[in-house]
Amino acid sequence: MTTVESGRRSTALAAVVLVGAAVAVALGVYGRVHDPALKPLFLFGFSGMLQFKTWFATAALVLVVVQVVTALWMWGRLPGAGAAPGWVGPAHRVSGALAFVVIMPVALHCLWSLGFSTSSPRVVVHSVAGCVFYGAYTSKMLGLRLRTAPGWTLPLLGGAVFATLVVVWLTSALWFFTRSGLPLT
Ligand code: HEM
Repeated sequence: MTTVESGRRSTALAAVVLVGAAVAVALGVYGRVHDPALKPLFLFGFSGMLQFKTWFATAALVLVVVQVVTALWMWGRLPGAGAAPGWVGPAHRVSGALAFVVIMPVALHCLWSLGFSTSSPRVVVHSVAGCVFYGAYTSKMLGLRLRTAPGWTLPLLGGAVFATLVVVWLTSALWFFTRSGLPLT
């Protein structure tokens, strides 16, 4: 690879990461400066916002685990599984698209209805992770289009999407499941 090609490759990669960082910061700023609506837009039949968001976030986590398993399989890194059959690629894309659709109404309610809260360390970590999740997601989607990106780009960005969603789930849904006296659905 020539020095010019290598320079272009680094610039493209830096741009992808910077756009993702800008998305994360923009969401955080919006969450912090707007007045939280403090009401739900819809509940999908659940008794409250907490219940609806918890179950949707849990469904998203399951779908993202499917994403990680199918990605490892496609990369030939799933122990004992051999080469990935043809349906694994589409399964990866469909589970990713579904996870995005399931997460969207949850994040919308978090941002619009509650905003970036600093009421406790758990909630701060949750709010930051929620914003970083969307930044990492943006970078990963853009990274898919970088034909010249180094081989570690997608595993790293995909890993960041997964890791931030796990943190979001641990600091919200898991917290809800450990409460007593709240209706589960
Ligand atoms: C990846 C996207 C996100 C998911 C899946 C998610 C999921 C959830 C869930 C399930 C809850 C209910 C449990 C609880 O109330 O603690 C919740 C609450 C909350 N979320 Fe999110 N969230 C996301 C993004 C965000 C973002 C971007 C922000 C703000 C910048 C945010 C701020 C909040 C706040 C303030 C609460 C209330 C916490 C409390 O007072 O207990 N969330 N979220």
